[in-house]
Amino acid sequence: MKICIIGAGYVGLTTAAVLADLGHRVQCVDRDENKVASLKKGLIPIFEPGLSELVVRNVQEGRLSFHSDVAASITAHEIIMIAVGTPSAADGTADLIYVRSVLLAISAALHTHKTIVMKSTVPPGTGVWATKFLMERGIPDHRFDLVSNPEFLREGTAIHDTLNPDRIVIGCRNVAAAEKVRAIYDGIEAETVWTGQTEAELIKYGSNAFLATKLSFVNELSRVCDVFDADITKVAQGIGMDSRIGGKFLQAGIGYGGSCLPKDVNALIGAAATRDVNLKLLREVAAVNESQPDYYVDKLEQKLGALDAKVRIAVLGATFKENTDDLRYSQAIELMKRLSARGCSVIAYDPLAAPAIPGVKWAKSALEAANGADALVVATGWKEFIQADWGQIKNKMRGKIVMDGRNVLNRTAVKEAGLTYVGLGRP
Ligand SMILES: NC(=O)c1ccc[n+]([C@@H]2O[C@H](COP(=O)([O-])OP(=O)(O)OC[C@H]3O[C@@H](n4cnc5c(N)ncnc54)[C@H](O)[C@@H]3O)[C@@H](O)[C@H]2O)c1
Repeated sequence: MKICIIGAGYVGLTTAAVLADLGHRVQCVDRDENKVASLKKGLIPIFEPGLSELVVRNVQEGRLSFHSDVAASITAHEIIMIAVGTPSAADGTADLIYVRSVLLAISAALHTHKTIVMKSTVPPGTGVWATKFLMERGIPDHRFDLVSNPEFLREGTAIHDTLNPDRIVIGCRNVAAAEKVRAIYDGIEAETVWTGQTEAELIKYGSNAFLATKLSFVNELSRVCDVFDADITKVAQGIGMDSRIGGKFLQAGIGYGGSCLPKDVNALIGAAATRDVNLKLLREVAAVNESQPDYYVDKLEQKLGALDAKVRIAVLGATFKENTDDLRYSQAIELMKRLSARGCSVIAYDPLAAPAIPGVKWAKSALEAANGADALVVATGWKEFIQADWGQIKNKMRGKIVMDGRNVLNRTAVKEAGLTYVGLGRP
């Protein structure tokens, strides 16, 4: 098939590369001309394992190309996938400004029939609104089909997830249009959920809200473990073995971040509020997550005393999780901000990022960050931190505390190096 994908971000670029690799001819368009210029040179503006090779190969073999003329690409294609960002507005609801601008561009090119596939995560009711939006611009409804097809990939494993989804959700009551969109994924084995647009939109929001709930739940439970001297990793393992619950997303830590969970929880709360539904549970999920970095900072203060200017803390990790360069809503950054706000000196290191944060200095390696530190916090689960040489780190540090913000470190290795391990809910 010939497919136009609008938005060359984490989702658009990965989808474009994978669909091209499946044999489709894909034009990926982005209004960011610098991004497109880089992509044309084979330079991938984001870090996603395996993506660069996949993009370069498919460009070379003539199935994938990059463009910045959104209108021209829309005109030239019957299948248009929307993969633009849907960030949080100031009030927490989803800001559909980019989706709206794409729909406007599509409306100008709807002289022939188009199948519009919504991959962006959008609030319930957006499909209904988008149909109305196009019809109000004089487009008859027989000239387009709008299919909701939410994306579930995770950054860091995006290609694997796109090729091996747990399910493909197709939201459209028109059977022919739904089947046409499902055929894009021929070659990918996955169960299909055939449903309506609004249900598809809510499957996406509901999934992310539930994952966030699991994480805030286990983070609260780990506070109980802390006061009863119990190990949350064992407790979570035992809970997760119940097939009704499942073991994933039960790892305690400084909280969830990234471009999806925080914004989608807030967007669902906001969407429900527009119809006078108060999502109390999800408000608490968000509140627990927000308080999680403070819980760690308080713990550090209990160990070190007041976190004043004499105290030096090394923070390892800035990205919201390992194997990505994405800093959006990173709890590691939240932690740094809160440490810095208490007055201590913070020196940080991340393999891919060094964002400007008031009061935070950046080191070029984990060892350099550890130099002279009273405590070291692992805030992102990068492999190089998990496999760190704790003996070398001990020799550099002034103090002994190693705080495991992701419960990923080998406690024994840390202790054997003569350091004091502090986890969350891990006695
Ligand atoms: N990142 C993830 O892990 C992930 C996973 C599942 C779903 N999603 C959802 O997918 C959507 C995209 O997320 P992302 O992380 O890829 O976003 P992103 O910010 O990385 O990329 C969005 C791209 O869209 C481009 N864009 C914006 N407006 C445009 C326009 N009018 N015309 C052309 N290009 C335009 C931007 O320049 C940018 O390159 C969001 O709704 C997000 O919630 C993201």
